[in-house]
Amino acid sequence: MQITLKLFRYNPEAGRTKPSYDIFTIEVDPTDRILDLLEEIKAYHDPTLSFRRSCAHGVCGSDAMRINGRNRLACKTLVKDLNNDTIVVEPILGMRVIKDFIVDMDPFFDSYKSILPYFVNNQKPEDGKEYIQSIEQREKFDNTTKCILCAACTTSCPSFWSNDQYVGPAAIVNAHRFIFDSRDQAAGERLEILNQQSGVWRCRTAFNCTEACPREIHVTEAIAEVKNAILRGKP
Ligand code: FES
Repeated sequence: MQITLKLFRYNPEAGRTKPSYDIFTIEVDPTDRILDLLEEIKAYHDPTLSFRRSCAHGVCGSDAMRINGRNRLACKTLVKDLNNDTIVVEPILGMRVIKDFIVDMDPFFDSYKSILPYFVNNQKPEDGKEYIQSIEQREKFDNTTKCILCAACTTSCPSFWSNDQYVGPAAIVNAHRFIFDSRDQAAGERLEILNQQSGVWRCRTAFNCTEACPREIHVTEAIAEVKNAILRGKP
């Protein structure tokens, strides 16, 4: 089948100082991924087309893009999923565009780092070997361990678009992963950080984040659980 690809372009170093779109018409297979199409354009039509990708299998989180108006991973989206013979690809919203689909991820990772996204426990395990956790305790944060930091959730959030000081859904999801881990000892500190102006209360429950997550994380639910933990004063 033939499709029309409409690709966002911006490259100030090469004189493309204003955002614009390039249009390509190519032959594709319905089971081709959007990433395959971008690779084809780069290899055979325009080597200057720039985008991030690494694993190509939905694991590294580097190729989140806005595809036909919705945040998705280019490597996990098939032509037939879109059910459209025109495919528009744009960078994720709310971040500074560096070139084509490449955005400045530094503020995103600064927010991520601000919530202490690592295990904190200065005590030795009781048996000196391992921290014991029941299946029920593990289940409390199982869903939020799936985050691949692609930023699809944060950059689909209207609260984040209107105020980039908001830490955003991805940072809260990663805080949730540790706050509800029975072995961790820094939940109080994380709840304090997320109770600040830039924290969870900026969430207006739009659910865009949950719809955008390519890992099917219950993002809005996780944010609500963190809000409740702040009100209770403990996980
Ligand atoms: S390239 Fe790694 S998630 Fe798509």
